[in-house]
Amino acid sequence: MSDSNPTRKKLFIETVGCQMNLLDSELVVGKLRNEGYELTDDITQADTILYNTCSVRQHAEDKIYSALGRVRALKALKPELTVGVLGCMAQKDQGLILKRAPFVDVVAGPGQLARVSELLVLAKEQGAPQMAVSLPRTSGSRDEVTASFAEYDPIREPAMRPSPFQAFVRIMMGCDKFCTYCIVPSVRGPEQSRPPGTIVDEARALADQGVKEITLLGQTVNSYKHVEGDGRTARLSDLLARLHEIGGLERIKFITNFPNDMTDDLLVAVRDLPKVARYLHVPAQSGCDEMLRRMKRMYSVALYDDMLARVRETIPGVAVSSDFIVGFCGETEASFEKSMRLVDRARFKNSFIFKYSPRHGTKADTLYADDVSEEVKKRRNKDLLDLQTAICLEDNRPFVGTTVEVLVEGPSRSSVRREGRGGVEQMTGRTPCDRIVVFEGNERLVGHIVPVEVEDVSAVTLFGRVVTTVSAMSRGEKERG
Ligand code: 5AD
Ligand code: SF4
Repeated sequence: MSDSNPTRKKLFIETVGCQMNLLDSELVVGKLRNEGYELTDDITQADTILYNTCSVRQHAEDKIYSALGRVRALKALKPELTVGVLGCMAQKDQGLILKRAPFVDVVAGPGQLARVSELLVLAKEQGAPQMAVSLPRTSGSRDEVTASFAEYDPIREPAMRPSPFQAFVRIMMGCDKFCTYCIVPSVRGPEQSRPPGTIVDEARALADQGVKEITLLGQTVNSYKHVEGDGRTARLSDLLARLHEIGGLERIKFITNFPNDMTDDLLVAVRDLPKVARYLHVPAQSGCDEMLRRMKRMYSVALYDDMLARVRETIPGVAVSSDFIVGFCGETEASFEKSMRLVDRARFKNSFIFKYSPRHGTKADTLYADDVSEEVKKRRNKDLLDLQTAICLEDNRPFVGTTVEVLVEGPSRSSVRREGRGGVEQMTGRTPCDRIVVFEGNERLVGHIVPVEVEDVSAVTLFGRVVTTVSAMSRGEKERG
């Protein structure tokens, strides 16, 4: 990670939370590297320690406060150490962070990340903590909105990416949905869509640097809408069509979708543009209408079912994944059972399941009591996860014997080694439907798309071996996986 130059300041950064945070960290590090910092993964060697934080659930915040507890000791030994708390928790807790951890030098919300280097300098010069928490513009002319996006001008940092062949591209900021449980709209501000031209330019620059796969990011990515100079509105489907033209890009993904905005033009684009992954993450959150109403999700279970049917009808072989919250305020056994039934019939590729965590500053926190015990939340979490896992295994089994296209990401990090194969390098990659594949190979395959014949499956992984192009072709049409 570091190329150790004694004259450069050493930066340690830890990122918690979603892909948007990973991208934010990449951009912060990109800028700091330009200004003479180098990354270290040894916190004790760092001159500057940054935490890019998440406030979606209490657990994520606890993690940062306990990390800050450990940093207190480091700072006592090394008073010149600079410590910054960035991102969603910085926005939500603001002065509380300085109260709980008075040694923190910089507190910067998600709208102020472009200023981090300047704030680090100011904190040192003035010997006082710097706090920057104003959010991006709520309204304004097209030029003003474009200018506020320019604040995010990406200085890319390949070392911070999952692999040099994959990159995130922000297409929207903020969220206007205000689901009652969710802190995101108050910490990331109002929804704004970035102009398509700048997104395409950024994607082209990434492709020129060798990026093969981009993942477009937005809290409700399919609500993307940008009014062009000629008055026409660019939708996500239009953007996908333009990105599809970029030479060198092989795969385009986008997360996260809002069920109500799963329009037919988008589904047709996913079906007709071969580079677009046939993978859609569309959180349902609950299978019970009363819970959805309390969550202010603005759809019914019937609408979600219809949306899913349309998705499956339009896009053959599509994989859909979901998020669920268990133990939301007022969730009875009967309402929870409805989530179980939704998972049972929806056949999601996977589901992320979360125990409800009350967030100060949200509607749910003031309107409803957090009346489901931790024990019950835990049990429901486990029950829903067990059901989803059984479905994953069942739905993965038919892949045995088929050949899938895998974009190779790198050596497998998991210690999964099947018997009798010890010592052989295990590589990992993903199918066009985002299924994880582990197979024997070598580093030279990284960044290439290879055909892999599936020999075995678990609930989360397909295991296989690379087949030669000739034998893959002799099987006729390849599975898109
Ligand atoms: N408690 C638990 N889970 C939450 N999520 C958002 N807010 C909360 C909360 N207060 C979950 C939702 C969302 C995912 C990113 O996090 O399922 O889709
Ligand atoms: Fe939060 Fe709802 Fe917006 Fe998603 S759509 S970020 S859950 S408010």
